[in-house]
Amino acid sequence: MNDSQAAPEDEVDLMKEIISLCKQRGFIFQSSEIYGGLKSCYDYGPLGAELKRNIMNEWWRAMVHEREDVVGLDASIIMHTDVWKASGHLAGFADPLVDCLVSKERFRADNAPRPEPGAELTLTCADKGQAKAYQKSIQERFGVELKRGGKTLQGLKVIDEETFGFFPDDSGDAAESFPYRGYVSPEIGSPFLSDERQFNLMFRTSLGPVDPVQQLAKAIEGKALSQEEARELIEQKIGENAVYLRPETAQAMFVQFANIQQALSLKVPFGIAQMGKSFRNEITVEHFIFRSCEFEQMEMEYFVEPGTQKEALDFWKDKRLRWYQRYANDPSKFRLRQHEPDELAHYADDCYDIEYEYPWGWGELEGIASRTDYDLKKHSENSGVRLTYFDQEKDNPETGKKGVHYTPYVVEPAAGATRTTLMYLLDAFCYDSPRPDAKGNVKTRRVLKLHPRLAPYKVAVLPLVKRDGMPELAREIVQQFFNSGINAKYDEQHQVGKRYARHDEVGTPYCLTVDGQSLEDGTVTIRDRDTTEQERIKIDEALQVVAGRLAES
Ligand code: GAP
Repeated sequence: MNDSQAAPEDEVDLMKEIISLCKQRGFIFQSSEIYGGLKSCYDYGPLGAELKRNIMNEWWRAMVHEREDVVGLDASIIMHTDVWKASGHLAGFADPLVDCLVSKERFRADNAPRPEPGAELTLTCADKGQAKAYQKSIQERFGVELKRGGKTLQGLKVIDEETFGFFPDDSGDAAESFPYRGYVSPEIGSPFLSDERQFNLMFRTSLGPVDPVQQLAKAIEGKALSQEEARELIEQKIGENAVYLRPETAQAMFVQFANIQQALSLKVPFGIAQMGKSFRNEITVEHFIFRSCEFEQMEMEYFVEPGTQKEALDFWKDKRLRWYQRYANDPSKFRLRQHEPDELAHYADDCYDIEYEYPWGWGELEGIASRTDYDLKKHSENSGVRLTYFDQEKDNPETGKKGVHYTPYVVEPAAGATRTTLMYLLDAFCYDSPRPDAKGNVKTRRVLKLHPRLAPYKVAVLPLVKRDGMPELAREIVQQFFNSGINAKYDEQHQVGKRYARHDEVGTPYCLTVDGQSLEDGTVTIRDRDTTEQERIKIDEALQVVAGRLAES
């Protein structure tokens, strides 16, 4: 740790600090970094892999192991294409995309800045050279010469909700007017935009030993096709063997509903949980791992009797909120937000987001949706397989006898494991208030106050020096932790003070130091990450002490 580091002063610094710590300490790296990196793809290093796995294990423990009414599933990432037809993902899982006709930036229309009528529309370019080039291109394409001031271009104003104009002087009259879409491009603030078009977020690939390019080449050989005809033919040929990487883990739980319910004789209400990779060709990737193209989800579909979904939604929204707060330093940074009716997905009759106060403001962490019977019914209609539940206890209103088939309703807590990893890094990262060290030097510590259950290493075992039998004894202690399933780290590099600092930065809750006295009286010091206090305990009791503190945490 660099002692001269100052604490971050604002939100931008906090994200920068986290990203830099993640790289320095082996949590998260840019994917393929040596080749210049791949946008929005990340690799979880030794520490990040442990942290993410611990988060996912805690989720699985709370959602599956500790519940009699929930079972697990690990489905394939590639599923039958009809799954995505039935679920609506093929037709509707799309973002509205727009191109800026000046800068060529492609962006999501629904996230773009929306200047109101009367607002000046100043285009802000990267530098003077770019401003000059854009000024020329606007003049050639739209016939108006905007005024250049350094790297900005001025003279445009929003007239009303549907029009913007060019105002060359202060006379108040527009020399030209253009249709206004209600928003401008995020990068330079330009209102000169293409039409919106829908862009499907699923990654498409092909399955089997067929080369789609060759098939395509054969299909178009010798044909004179219009652009539209060529497009249709290409779609048809590619579509023949197309498969998709799943954009959510949820659909497998609907598709395997009957198999699982029957194999385990499950009684409604019951849940099926799954965690794993999902893929979305996101247009806007943002805030490090907050939104990326490849990410991990932790989802559970809870099947209930129709009419009881509100009760189940209330139960799961509160339970999930408490789950996040349990591992957090600051529980006040979480809140529940109910969706407005116009925000609800087509399949939902109610929905809550668990939101976190990120450095850039409140944002989604998890959605808990009441998904009605939409998915089971759609898959049943499309596959021809009955996906209902037979309730033997319930009276059938038609026959007056016991036993009735119905399609269960579903409540779905859908969380992101990668997003949760970022959230707990943000929650844990802090600079301790300056305090004197053993030598009296005042230092500011950079600490990751991760919950012990989430921390990559639970305990570090440090021989004070690399001789006199201390390494051997330290390794014996580490082995005892391994034998008990506790992830311990043997660490002998650098002076012990540096090692403490390193473990503070990666969130190791306890450090055990083996010193000369250890060899004489069988004791070690145990140092607490958060208080930095040390006490001597017997080596024989070290395992019990650490295990006990972990269990209590
Ligand atoms: N089955 C419902 C579903 O997938 P969602 O709100 O689209 O709902 C659930 O996703 C959670 O998955 C989100 O709350 C978020 O935590 C995570 N998530 C979604 N898209 C993501 C992305 N591109 N990058 C990282 N996490 C993402």
